[in-house]
Amino acid sequence: MTTAPTADALARVIAVVNGKGGAGKTSITANVAGQLAHSGYRVLAIDLDLSGNLGLDLGYIGRDGDDGGKSLVDSVYSATPLALITGVRDGLDVIAGGRHLELLTGLSFSAMAADLPGGGVTGSFALQLTEIADGYDIILLDCAPGNPVLQDIALACARYILIPTKSDAGGWDGLRGVGPRVKKARDTNPQLTYLGAVLFAHSVSAKRVLRNTRYRLAEVGDRVPLLEAYIRHSETAAHDCRPCATDAAATTLRYPRRCPAQPTTWRGTTSSCRGKSCNASTPTSKPPP
Ligand SMILES: Nc1ncnc2c1ncn2[C@@H]1O[C@H](COP(=O)(O)OP(=O)(O)OP(=O)(O)O)[C@@H](O)[C@H]1O
Ligand SMILES: [Mg+2]
Repeated sequence: MTTAPTADALARVIAVVNGKGGAGKTSITANVAGQLAHSGYRVLAIDLDLSGNLGLDLGYIGRDGDDGGKSLVDSVYSATPLALITGVRDGLDVIAGGRHLELLTGLSFSAMAADLPGGGVTGSFALQLTEIADGYDIILLDCAPGNPVLQDIALACARYILIPTKSDAGGWDGLRGVGPRVKKARDTNPQLTYLGAVLFAHSVSAKRVLRNTRYRLAEVGDRVPLLEAYIRHSETAAHDCRPCATDAAATTLRYPRRCPAQPTTWRGTTSSCRGKSCNASTPTSKPPP
């Protein structure tokens, strides 16, 4: 039986949000999820994007359960449990997204939305996530750039928002829409809080850039701390992490032999990867109780 979503059950859900494409949402979701799992946390990463790019970065394309988001849509529609791809890394499970998530947009505007458990698409997803959330220390939601319905689904069940952004003018476009969406989400999810913003593909640590970044973040409408750590621009990382995966997608079942951009600590454990250079490593440390 489905229980009501509770603040406690979803207290460790982080939505990685920015309305702009290419801001680093998927890269950060995949890498933070991988590193936390490697450190001994139980992690769930959910792909809430039509592109399904999380599967490229984590290498589960073509694996059982990589259904383009179909089972996620079914779960929202008929209140059935969310389907997991388990063991993508040691300690890391995934719920796949992809092109089928488009159906949630239609469903949210249809007459039948009000009859869904939880009173709508966002409520229905939150209820299903509540059912499994206890099994994880951290749940990361990789959000879609230009799909308000998918963003609302994430913001309705997250406790925290992490905003990756680039420091150039284009990077700010995606920020403008975040504030209003968060305000709206707080009608039903009042505890939704900004964890912070992180600069992605940043090449200089000039004070002026950081000052401008803080100024822009103030426009979001809330206090959004800028994290001191940033993701350094790296053509090599950009080139290496997805060509691997694109190769895997093209050959459907064959995981790439080398994924040099991923830290060796958490390279793939997909079955088709075993025995090659993507071998899993065993977590060496456990989180504090
Ligand atoms: N350190 C890095 N420096 C530069 N580019 C990087 C780095 N790490 C990853 N990239 C590349 O940056 C691109 C955009 O990143 P990513 O896909 O994570 O953004 P996104 O916000 O999820 O985009 P979308 O909204 O389209 O899903 C990807 O091609 C990725 O491989
Ligand atoms: Mg993405």
